Amino acid sequence: MESQSSFVSWFRDSSPYIHAHRNKTFVISFGGEAVLADDFDHHVHDFALLSSLGVRLVLVHGIRPQIDQRLDKLNASALFHKHLRITDDLALQCVKEAAGLVRVEIEALLSMGLSNSPMAGSEIKVASGNFITAKPIGVIDGIDYCHTGEVRRIDSAAIHQQLDQNNVVLISPIGFSPSGEIFNLSAEQVATAVAIALKAEKLILLTEQSCCNPDNNEQIRQMTTAEANTFLQQHQDIGDTISLPLKAAIQSCQAGIERVHLINRVIDGALLLELFSRDGIGTLISSTPFEELRPATLNDIGGILELIKPLEQQGILAKRSREKIEMEIADYIVIERDGLIIGCTALHPNEQGLFGAIACLAVHPDYQGSARGNRMLDYVYSYARQLNLKKLFVLSTQTMHWFIERGFLSSDINSLPEPLKALYNPQRNSKILYKNIA
Ligand SMILES: CC(C)(COP(=O)(O)OP(=O)(O)OC[C@H]1O[C@@H](n2cnc3c(N)ncnc32)[C@H](O)[C@@H]1OP(=O)(O)O)[C@@H](O)C(=O)NCCC(=O)NCCS
Repeated sequence: MESQSSFVSWFRDSSPYIHAHRNKTFVISFGGEAVLADDFDHHVHDFALLSSLGVRLVLVHGIRPQIDQRLDKLNASALFHKHLRITDDLALQCVKEAAGLVRVEIEALLSMGLSNSPMAGSEIKVASGNFITAKPIGVIDGIDYCHTGEVRRIDSAAIHQQLDQNNVVLISPIGFSPSGEIFNLSAEQVATAVAIALKAEKLILLTEQSCCNPDNNEQIRQMTTAEANTFLQQHQDIGDTISLPLKAAIQSCQAGIERVHLINRVIDGALLLELFSRDGIGTLISSTPFEELRPATLNDIGGILELIKPLEQQGILAKRSREKIEMEIADYIVIERDGLIIGCTALHPNEQGLFGAIACLAVHPDYQGSARGNRMLDYVYSYARQLNLKKLFVLSTQTMHWFIERGFLSSDINSLPEPLKALYNPQRNSKILYKNIA
């Protein structure tokens, strides 16, 4: 019984994320190591789930260990300079073999539909193709990188066309030149370029380890691009498994991708935990702060309604329609955290500019008790002062003490100025509180 109700509440809790992710474009990149791992089919199940929830999914896979294995068999050594492979003719042969094999293996896993597996009924269509035009890196420091290339152009229209048809797009780290040459590319660079070209909502890099601070070994939960840059400067010996994804994240954010997630692929279900749970499990890199308090826009109305609906049902907040919020949206402020609205309130100034009414104050239950209510109130005070308001009113059925502890005083209906008095609903029988502001 208990597990039944925890399942129900878990499923309900994930619904805001399901709504938020639908029809969004996510580019997910993973190394060849992930493909070799025993649990790779779990990742494929999670990709399939995302696709069936309406996420427009682009997968970019790596092939580094598969190339190394082939070179090893040929008794040839893998050549690198400045962390970048030198792809000579022999290595290029290995690149072609590895890319073909890995792509076919992923396609096979995505095609599975056994009735006793999570893939039952998924019927995923995979599209891969010549989406990437590349050019040679050339000679650097006197070293000829041969067939190692870099991205020159992404055919984003062709990829979008596949996504429009609900296909999952699978991209290998290989590009072609207009003269028909093949180039070996880095998977991180391809994923970054693809995410930028598609204007993806998220770039997700499945990494080989969690992004931890070497000073205390604690995982870093979020960083702005500026913080990530400083981190890389301070830890120049951090190793490619973290530095390459971090550099890709910084580059993507600077080019307009709002959210880049670094997720340790070794943790089972890490992708789902990151995307469908409150605080996630990985490291989030964004150019803007992870959580911000800002004036609301019409795009926030869905999030505001979702936040206040349960409070209206409990009678804590008065009911207000979507149309009413739409008309008064300029009065609202919200706290947005990773794309979700977790706090809101409104300050309705009266037309004469003498007083204002605070309304619709709410903080999502998961985030209460960390002074977000206070932050919104402080914002309201300073906005009220800008408008030269002298007095703020609030009507409350169950939250009087929260306001009293913040300097509000109780009053009665006679103290309410028009039009607030005319709007007062005797059935709600709310307590009336006010605060003079200098
Ligand atoms: C009131 C509310 C906005 C406060 O948000 P918050 O981010 O948790 O606020 P803060 O962190 O600044 O304050 C938390 C403090 O308020 C207290 N508090 C929360 N709800 C309260 C209530 N109804 N009455 C009195 N105190 C309350 C908490 O116990 C905590 O105090 P403590 O740390 O001493 O225990 C939030 O609790 C909420 O959304 N409540 C439901 C909606 C609501 O009542 N809106 C007001 C309608 S008039």
